[in-house]
Amino acid sequence: MKVLVINGSPRGEAGNTYHITNAFLKGMSMIREDDVEVVNLIDRNIGFCRGCFHCWNNEEGVCIQHDDMDELRPKFQAADIVIWSTPVHTFGMSALMKNFLDRLLPLHLGTMEERDDGGDEHICRYNKGVKKHVLIASCGFYSYVNNVEALEKHFEIMHKGRLETIICCEGALFRIHHSDVVRRANQYLTVVRRAGKEYAYSGQIADTTKEQLRHRFYNRTEYHILANHHWTVPREGMTDEEYKLRKLTDVIHCMGALMNRDRFTKEPGVAEFDVTDLDFKAQIRLTVEKLEIVTDPQSFLPCHIRIEVSSERLIELDRYVRSGQSHSIHGSKAGFHGTQAIVNRMLWAIQNGQCATIRL
Ligand SMILES: Cc1cc2nc3c(=O)[nH]c(=O)nc-3n(C[C@H](O)[C@H](O)[C@H](O)COP(=O)(O)O)c2cc1C
Repeated sequence: MKVLVINGSPRGEAGNTYHITNAFLKGMSMIREDDVEVVNLIDRNIGFCRGCFHCWNNEEGVCIQHDDMDELRPKFQAADIVIWSTPVHTFGMSALMKNFLDRLLPLHLGTMEERDDGGDEHICRYNKGVKKHVLIASCGFYSYVNNVEALEKHFEIMHKGRLETIICCEGALFRIHHSDVVRRANQYLTVVRRAGKEYAYSGQIADTTKEQLRHRFYNRTEYHILANHHWTVPREGMTDEEYKLRKLTDVIHCMGALMNRDRFTKEPGVAEFDVTDLDFKAQIRLTVEKLEIVTDPQSFLPCHIRIEVSSERLIELDRYVRSGQSHSIHGSKAGFHGTQAIVNRMLWAIQNGQCATIRL
């Protein structure tokens, strides 16, 4: 059983998609390692198809260009299972992946036939229908809707009946190192490993596993806050002071996003941040329905927990968490480590109806 992984991410094996593909491969551990080959298209020299039809008219089955496709086409033909691993780029597969597909043209006959589904096709010159295919994709948006349909349809047209699909939305989370995010991503990867195991044994992924693979890490609001926070805040037209306040607000908002709202009721849980060296306070309010950040003290509610922190410490803390390093907050009486520890402390105070003050 030969497995060929075609990795179409320009980020190669460091990409979000490959995290998922790698978990799937780990699940397929019954297949000998020697029988699995990963091709990172970004490292290969593959020109664009010239559309000259040399492979159909001049030398049948032979491409006019001689590059890495000379080596990859036979590998593709020999594979029993092809795993297509691609990020969603502009609502479809990556350009690297699409280019690879186009360059498989010599494996098809020039003559066309009608398909059972009403479309047409150029049938394979060689072992038609023998291969099985798995599409593994990751994307940055929250939504499947109006985002991944074209990619799914594309693969369905090519491989219907011989295809399993795993598409992971919220892909930005694989770049975020908050422990809560990492924990959820790891839970997802465990399900992907199970999918790989099922596939290796039975040639398909069980329906219950497929359902779990459509699971969301966060709700849309929280995901947007966490993912947006990962990118640099545009500072056009902002004074240094405004920019600093904007960054502090983002860090505080992000902590709110990490507090799983499913654990709340309709009564707001309130955490107040007092940034001691600036005249700046912010409240995060969480109900089961929504997350709000309020910066006008006139509208503040009584809080469950007050966090006194300097602006430098808050930004320093965030920087450490973004880089994935653990960072103890020196001088903290409670000895917290990282924003997740603060989030946990806030959750505890809110759920126990306390009014506590902590100084970081
Ligand atoms: C050029 C480009 C286009 C993208 N287009 C989309 C898109 O249409 N929909 C989406 O959800 N994510 C989009 N993304 C985000 C990626 O799909 C997402 O970050 C993915 O997890 C990256 O996987 P990788 O790290 O394996 O490359 C795009 C990213 C890039 C670089």
